[in-house]
Amino acid sequence: MLLFLLPLLVACIIFLLHSRRKLPYPPGPKGYPIIGNMGIMDQLTHRGLARLAKQYGGLFHLQMGRLHVLAVSTPDMAQEVLQVQDSVFSNRPANVAITYLTYNQADMAFANYGPFWRQMRKICVMKLFSRKRAESWASVREEVDSMVRAVMEKTASQVNIGEMLFALTRNITYRAAFGSLSHEGQDEFMKILQEFSKLFGAFNIADFFPWLDWIRGQGFNKRLMKARQSLDGFIDTIIDEHVRKKKSDKDNNKDESPVEIETETEKDMVDELLAFYSHEDAKNAFYDSQSTIKLTRDNIKAIIMDVMFGGTETVASAIEWSLAELMRSPEDLNKVQQELKEVVGLNRLVHESDLGKLTYLKCVLKETLRLHPPIPLFLHETAEDSVIAGYRIPAKSRIMINAWAIGRDPNAWHDPDRFNPSRFLKDGAPDFKGSNFEFIPFGSGRRSCPGMQLGLYAMEMSVAHLLHCFKWELPNGMEASELDMNDVFGLTAPRADRLVVVPTYRLNCPV
Ligand code: HEM
Repeated sequence: MLLFLLPLLVACIIFLLHSRRKLPYPPGPKGYPIIGNMGIMDQLTHRGLARLAKQYGGLFHLQMGRLHVLAVSTPDMAQEVLQVQDSVFSNRPANVAITYLTYNQADMAFANYGPFWRQMRKICVMKLFSRKRAESWASVREEVDSMVRAVMEKTASQVNIGEMLFALTRNITYRAAFGSLSHEGQDEFMKILQEFSKLFGAFNIADFFPWLDWIRGQGFNKRLMKARQSLDGFIDTIIDEHVRKKKSDKDNNKDESPVEIETETEKDMVDELLAFYSHEDAKNAFYDSQSTIKLTRDNIKAIIMDVMFGGTETVASAIEWSLAELMRSPEDLNKVQQELKEVVGLNRLVHESDLGKLTYLKCVLKETLRLHPPIPLFLHETAEDSVIAGYRIPAKSRIMINAWAIGRDPNAWHDPDRFNPSRFLKDGAPDFKGSNFEFIPFGSGRRSCPGMQLGLYAMEMSVAHLLHCFKWELPNGMEASELDMNDVFGLTAPRADRLVVVPTYRLNCPV
C-alpha cells in the first residue's frame, strides 16, 4: 500500500509545484523585451494606475525592468493583500536611497515585517503615539490656538491658509519629537527633510536593473552621504542635549523619588526613545542581558524621521482638502457651522469635549479622506511567492495599493466623485478603522497607520476651530467652481495650489 501511495504523493507534489510555476501573472499592458513596461513609468501615480485599472482590472501586473509591480485598485483585492494574505504582503520595498537614508531600514516605517519591526512598532505605539502621551495632544491644542490667533490678525484680508496649515503640522510634529528645547533649528531640519524626500523619490536605474548599479553617478552618492551627514549632525546635537538634560535633572533631583521626577519634566519623543538607548556600539537595535530591547542612535534618528514624514504632510493636506471641499460646497459649510453654533455656541471657543458631538464635522473629514487620501498609494513588497485569484505573484514584487482609486470605486460607492459628507450619516456607513476595505485612508492590518488617533485629533481640532471662529470666503469674488482641485503626486498628494481665503471673525468672545 505504502509503495503504491508514496510515488503517487510525490507525483502530486511535483504536479502542484509545476502547475503553480506555470500560473500566469495578472493581466496588464504588453511590454517590450528587457525593459518591459518602463515606457509607461509616468503612469505610476494614483491617477495613472486608476486609469489602467479600468482597462486591466482590480489586480494588474506591470514589468518594470527586473521588477514585478502589482497594482491593487478594488476593495476585494485590497482585502486579499491587507488581510487574507497580509503576512506575505507586509514587507516594504526599499530602493538604494531609502536603504541608505533609513540607516539600513533601522526605523519602523521602512523596516520589513518581522521581529525587529514588531518591537519597533510596539515602542512607537506604546510610547510615542499613545493617547497617554499627553504632551503630543497638548502640542496640537497649543499650536492650533496660536494658528487661530495668527488668522485673527489677518481678518478681512487674503490669508494663505494652506501655508499656515503646513506650518501648523510641522510645528506640532517638531514639538512632539524634540520638545520646546530646540525650536530654533526647525528651518534647518525642514530643509534636511525636503532633501530626504527628493532622494527617496529620485529615479535610479539600479532599482529596476540591479546589475546597472555601477551607473549610479558619484553625484548621487555624494548627495546621499551629505543628506545623512546633515541629519546626523542635527539629531546628534539634540540627542546629546537631551542626555545632558536628563543627567542634570537626575543630579538636581537626587533626593526626590523617581515618580516625582517623571511627572515634573515634560517628555518629548527623544526622551521617550532615550529610555531604550544604549551607548554600546551596536549596529542596530539589540537585546541586553535582561532581554530588554535597546535602541542605537541610528534607530532613534530613523524613528524620528518616520514621525516627521508620517505626521506632517498627511495631516496638513487632509485639513487643506477639507476646507477646499467646503469652499466648493457652501451648503455643507453652512451645516458644519450651524452644528458648531448649536453644540459650542458663539460665546466660547471649541473644547476637546465638544469633538464627540460634532457629527457632521466628522462626516466632512471622512468624506475628505475618501476623496483625497493623504497617502494615495501604499507601497508594500511580497516576502515570498504567492497566488491571488489564480494569478502568480512572485517574491519581492512591489505592491501598490491604490487607496485613491478604491475610495472612488463605482461598485463600492454611489456617485463616487461627488463630495457628499451625508453619505456617512447612513446606518452601516463604512468606517476607516481598517475592516471596511472600500475606505482605507489609514491602511488596514499590520502596516496600518499607528498615528491615526493623533492625526484625527489634529484634523478635528484644526477644522473645528477654523470653522467655528471664522466665516470664510474666496478672494477677489472668485466662484467656488473656479477653485483648482488638482493634486501633486509624491509620498502624499496635497493640493497643487495652496488655498487662499478671506476670513471674518464670527464669535462674540475674544480669541
Ligand atoms: C490624516 C493623517 C494620516 C493619514 C491619512 C495616515 C495614513 C497612513 C497610511 C495609509 C499608512 C501606510 C499604510 C500601509 O502602508 O499599508 C501610514 C503609515 C504610517 N503612519 Fe500614518 N497617517 C496619518 C497620520 C500619521 C501621524 C500623525 C503619524 C505620526 C505622528 C503617522 C505615522 C505613520 C507611520 C510611522 C507609519 C508606518 C507604519 C508601519 O510601516 O508600520 N501617521 N499612515
